[in-house]
Amino acid sequence: MQFLLNKKVPFKEIIPEDYIDIHSHLIPGIDDGVKTIYQSAYILEQFEKFGIKKVITTPHIMQDVWPNSSHTITNGLKELKEVLPPLGITKIELQASAEYMMDDLFYKRIKNNDILPLHKDFILVEMSTFSPPMNLSEILFEIKLAGYIPILAHPERYSFYQNDLKKYDKLKESGFLFQLNLLSLSGYYGEQIKSFGKKLIDLGYIDFTGSDIHNYHQLETLEKGFDSKMAKKITSLMKNNAIFS
Ligand SMILES: [Fe+2]
Repeated sequence: MQFLLNKKVPFKEIIPEDYIDIHSHLIPGIDDGVKTIYQSAYILEQFEKFGIKKVITTPHIMQDVWPNSSHTITNGLKELKEVLPPLGITKIELQASAEYMMDDLFYKRIKNNDILPLHKDFILVEMSTFSPPMNLSEILFEIKLAGYIPILAHPERYSFYQNDLKKYDKLKESGFLFQLNLLSLSGYYGEQIKSFGKKLIDLGYIDFTGSDIHNYHQLETLEKGFDSKMAKKITSLMKNNAIFS
């Protein structure tokens, strides 16, 4: 009986029709994501087989580690798109944006309006998993001034907020939307993050989902799927991503 309760539902069975993935690292060589264009193509081929309609890939832009620009990202996207049709990957739509670390570089970029939005006015932002930025309210002010709506990537991974959900209430009140990583619910980052992710879903904090896929290993983990108890909830959340079409 316990075995049945713990049964996993494969990823491909929980994906709603026309799902749009809004978080991944599939432009090769410009961040900690895929290393080659063929690794990227393989992941996109699998996503296409799962029935995913569109991928908006989001390389990191992080001042001290991957100081990418709109130029490096759009160039990488162009090269990747060129190899897909010859490999028979023709159905999945591919676009690129970025996952912006809310650091000094981001602050400059937002002030200069040098931003690649995710879709319309939405932008995907993250913070360090060790601590929030000191000037978070200043950054949010600039985001709003520039007319963007921030989506906070993987709120379930910021352990410093786990016992202080009021901080998340404040972020929501101030205009952040929340994107949960599907990999968190697969247990990829450990049990603690998985259960915090479930809690955030149950308490209604999560707006959108994303794979945040970087490599084959994560693809394998994702493919194995999710606890059957969670499957329906995940599918219903994934449907919210339809607004990015
Ligand atoms: Fe990411």
